[in-house]
Amino acid sequence: MTGTLGKDLLGLESLTGDQIRLILDTAEPFKEISERAIKKVPALRGSTIVNLFFENSTRTRISFEFAEKRLSADTVNVSAAGSSVSKGETLVDTARNLEAMRIDMVVIRHSASGAAQFLAERIQSNVINAGDGTHEHPTQGLLDILTLRDRFGDLKGRRICICGDILHSRVARSNIWGLTKLGAEVAVCGPRSLLPNAIDEFGVRIFDRIEEAIEWAEALNVLRLQFERMTAGYIPSAREYNRVFGITRERLDRAKRDILILHPGPMNRGVEIDSDVADGPHSVILEQVTNGVAVRMAVLYLLAGGKPELAEAAKGGSGRGREPGERD
Ligand code: CP
Repeated sequence: MTGTLGKDLLGLESLTGDQIRLILDTAEPFKEISERAIKKVPALRGSTIVNLFFENSTRTRISFEFAEKRLSADTVNVSAAGSSVSKGETLVDTARNLEAMRIDMVVIRHSASGAAQFLAERIQSNVINAGDGTHEHPTQGLLDILTLRDRFGDLKGRRICICGDILHSRVARSNIWGLTKLGAEVAVCGPRSLLPNAIDEFGVRIFDRIEEAIEWAEALNVLRLQFERMTAGYIPSAREYNRVFGITRERLDRAKRDILILHPGPMNRGVEIDSDVADGPHSVILEQVTNGVAVRMAVLYLLAGGKPELAEAAKGGSGRGREPGERD
């Protein structure tokens, strides 16, 4: 099936600003479904979706599963540990075997950058990237942007700083692509050892001091230090990182105005962010998680060929992009 977004969602780099706005606008009517007593509409009834999670995940995996179930899709979860991947089966063989069972979509998380695209080029089903190595995490970028848009409205000219381990972060890349396409001013702040060599090519401002970033920004998206991807000593210690770059209450209190605090999770409390900030009045971290379900419902709906103008009707159960069981 090829909808208004194309066949797959692999990243935000390849989307236009209009396509990003389309996903965010489609997510709006879907938000309300999760607030109902019966959180289910028939928009994807008859569709079969496989969640292939070859890397650990809490938020993304569960959020996709809720989104799929709330749209009435049939879902199957596959992880490397419990599948024949652990016996040496390749990613493509796994996916082709799933396709032989007549699936419609694959949601994939993988430790290798480019894994989602590699798969998308080799199978007919729609592929959604749920995070590939250090490359992109498009639905996380979209939910972060939706959360900012909820607070700021139009993001044109808004000043957003992404803080911390930019080097290893697919979330940083998706945020940079998405936010700049919507006209936001984007900055990064972190130790130089945790910035990519090519950071100048992203068209972002760079802050070396977190105090300057806080002074400049209207929102900070605070990233986890990805110790599991660090192959060298990028920082002296977690304690030293917190002392120099940590988002602390004291640092925020020195800012002259309100500032929004986002974090994609999982958090290292006391390292990149202190608990009284994560749980404090500036934080929209749990709003991000709530928005994640609506954004993923929108992506699934649009990739399945759902008509954006019917999203409002689809949530009432009276409209959808295709008939039950209809395939490409
Ligand atoms: N933000 C995010 O991707 O979290 P998980 O790794 O728990 O899915």
